[in-house]
Amino acid sequence: MYKYFATTIPGVEDISARELEKIVGVKPEIDVDKVFLETDLEAMYKINFMSRTINKLYILLAREEFKDLNDIYRVVRNIDFRELIRPDMKFAVRAERIGEHNFTSIDIARVAGQAIIDSYMDSMKTRLKVDLENPDIEINVLVRFNEILIGVNTSGESLHKRRYRVYNHPAALKTNLAASMIFLGDYTGEPLLDPLCGGGTIPIEAAHIARKYPISIFRREYYFRRLPLHNESIEKNVEEKLISSINKEIYEIYCVDISREHIQGALLNAKNALVDDTIKFFNRDSTRRESFEDIEAKLIVTNPPYGMRSHSLKKIEGFYETFLKTLKEVYQNIKLVLITASTQQFENAIKKTDVEIIHSRKVMHGGLTAKIYMIKI
Ligand SMILES: C[S@@+](CC[C@H](N)C(=O)[O-])C[C@H]1O[C@@H](n2cnc3c(N)ncnc32)[C@H](O)[C@@H]1O
Repeated sequence: MYKYFATTIPGVEDISARELEKIVGVKPEIDVDKVFLETDLEAMYKINFMSRTINKLYILLAREEFKDLNDIYRVVRNIDFRELIRPDMKFAVRAERIGEHNFTSIDIARVAGQAIIDSYMDSMKTRLKVDLENPDIEINVLVRFNEILIGVNTSGESLHKRRYRVYNHPAALKTNLAASMIFLGDYTGEPLLDPLCGGGTIPIEAAHIARKYPISIFRREYYFRRLPLHNESIEKNVEEKLISSINKEIYEIYCVDISREHIQGALLNAKNALVDDTIKFFNRDSTRRESFEDIEAKLIVTNPPYGMRSHSLKKIEGFYETFLKTLKEVYQNIKLVLITASTQQFENAIKKTDVEIIHSRKVMHGGLTAKIYMIKI
């Protein structure tokens, strides 16, 4: 058995926990920005290949309360690194710190690095080498107020980097936030519409969810292959099972945007993501009811402009109002899941429209505090 933790987007930890429970059958413990779980080695492959909502998966080495740098040294020194680092491997410590402390993250990395070298010297009689630029293994030390969390990154770069995007929309939604919104809407393959789809992130994620595409068919690099505990036959087994459960059915997924350039970009992204056959693209204005005459939708998931780039904040309130009224004219009694950082403007628009907020929550999106709303139209 191994202990793991996954880092998540702040505000959707519960959605990630539910997703991981579905993937590995174990209920994770929810914490801020993270979920913890204890399960087998196979789970490491399953999660890295399938999770659409987490950032990275770590093997948990220690989770303790601490007071000072001496405590950090002691906690790291007590970890047995034999299963994680081979004597010829070069390592790096990556430290992050949240809260007030009288030391910096550089101090944490220095002290933890020395403790790893000392611990390994004790158990293996070998002095490990450090390589901060190009390490074989990353040990992560996360200090949050008075808690220290130590883990090994099994994912490599964040799993939200799906590697299928060829067109970069200037205000693209993070793929794992898009997937979290789709899961929040309880999507099960019914007709889905993104009326402000930009580069197509939401429709593409929905198509991948419907078709059960593992994220590993687009991103091939994972750090777990470098770990001594890596088991190639378990990896192969997991991958084969996932590939065999892909379905190539056609789902009704609609991507509408007023910009021709973005729609063309969305099509390129969908082609590269192998789902251009199941998404329909329309270069239309979503504030006009005629735009939706031939689009039957049972769930709407979308990420409108926030009014910081393309519209002014004043204008955005009017845009939200017209947009909601148009949706209300065409679609009734269906769910709309929407994210915006212009929450005041959106809530003012809601008050002028006859729609009901079922649920809302704060999330972090690109350094901004945003809110996801679930609305019954
Ligand atoms: C925040 S972006 C969406 C980004 C997208 N989620 C992605 O990941 O690429 C908002 C999009 O709304 C589109 N838009 C703005 N006004 C619109 C309208 N009246 N009708 C349709 N699309 C509109 C913009 O062209 C822009 O691409």
